[in-house]
Amino acid sequence: MVGIDIIGTGSYIPEFIADNEKFSNFLDTSDEWITTRTGIKERRIMTDKPNYYMGIKAAEKAIGDAKIDPKSIDLILVSSCSPDFFYPSMSCLVQKAVGADNAACFDVNSACTGFISALDIAQKYLLTNQYNTILIVATERLSNHLDYTDRSMCILFGDAAGAAVVKKSDKPYYSMLGASGDEFKALYCKVDYKANCPFHEDEMPFYNGLFDTESKKRYLQSDGHAVYKFAVNAMNNAVRKVMEMGGYTIDDIDLVIPHQANLRIIAKATDMLGIDNSKVYTNIQRFGNVSSACIPVALDELKREGRLRNGMKVCFVGFGAGLTYGAIIAEI
Ligand code: UT7
Repeated sequence: MVGIDIIGTGSYIPEFIADNEKFSNFLDTSDEWITTRTGIKERRIMTDKPNYYMGIKAAEKAIGDAKIDPKSIDLILVSSCSPDFFYPSMSCLVQKAVGADNAACFDVNSACTGFISALDIAQKYLLTNQYNTILIVATERLSNHLDYTDRSMCILFGDAAGAAVVKKSDKPYYSMLGASGDEFKALYCKVDYKANCPFHEDEMPFYNGLFDTESKKRYLQSDGHAVYKFAVNAMNNAVRKVMEMGGYTIDDIDLVIPHQANLRIIAKATDMLGIDNSKVYTNIQRFGNVSSACIPVALDELKREGRLRNGMKVCFVGFGAGLTYGAIIAEI
């Protein structure tokens, strides 16, 4: 068994606060609707800097917290579904900024499940003994993907970054990742290539309907009900699967750090699992859904508050566009 030690964490939260009141100034919505349907009170928006800036700041803090020389980092994994560039990968920008000259770099995109995927990749790389210190960064600027006239979606998301430095340990670690590509239209944000595409969409039936050039189609599109239903079942099933792998019962789990998409989704899934509310960490009230950054931001808050104890069994669970899902139980 080879598990992980989380030796450092960091996060970056933009300064600009968009509370529910601000949305009711330009949309037919209210603090009451948003709070009762989602649990969100406010979210942060990055107004003046690119996404990679947040990732770099979170990475610098995690490296400082881990008290390591950046040159000892063997691999940088950045999770982002809202990158600033198609290429290079965001991890190369982080590498340059933090001076991790010896690190291999690549990005991971499984949308909101991204931190869980990246952590699981890190654990697999650590197993090889070729990589000993891995920096994982999840940085998301979802405000770039939002149609601020769509009241059902734009109130859900915010911007933030979180990071963690991990090393190998001999503590228990169990994971599962899954996907349901059939449901990709439930949540997507399309690259706007139409301008350069010489073919008619009838010639590419797979893309039928997605090549709509109306400006709104470049923003995040979602069937909220379908995602909601998928999320509750996927989170419940993923946690049950990793508990079974480790021979755990729900009482063995000390802390659950779920993806923060909707407080009702978290409540329903954790209720189905029968886990005590006091063991479930939420910060969606303050940040909204910051996609793959949700879990590392929460991890960093918990670490700074002294709430992570040696030997704790922590469960990370999430879902996202794809649709993807995954869970990890790690003794930290
Ligand atoms: O990381 C994954 C990303 N995606 C998600 O997390 C989405 C998951 N889904 C959800 O969280 C929920 O489905 C939503 C929050 C998106 C919607 O909540 P809901 O309880 O499923 O509401 P609904 O879609 O059934 O809408 C109920 C009503 C509708 O009005 P009518 O048709 O009943 O008259 C909506 O038009 O609420 C209306 N509505 C709003 N009203 C005020 C939708 N958005 C708003 C709003 N303010 N912001």
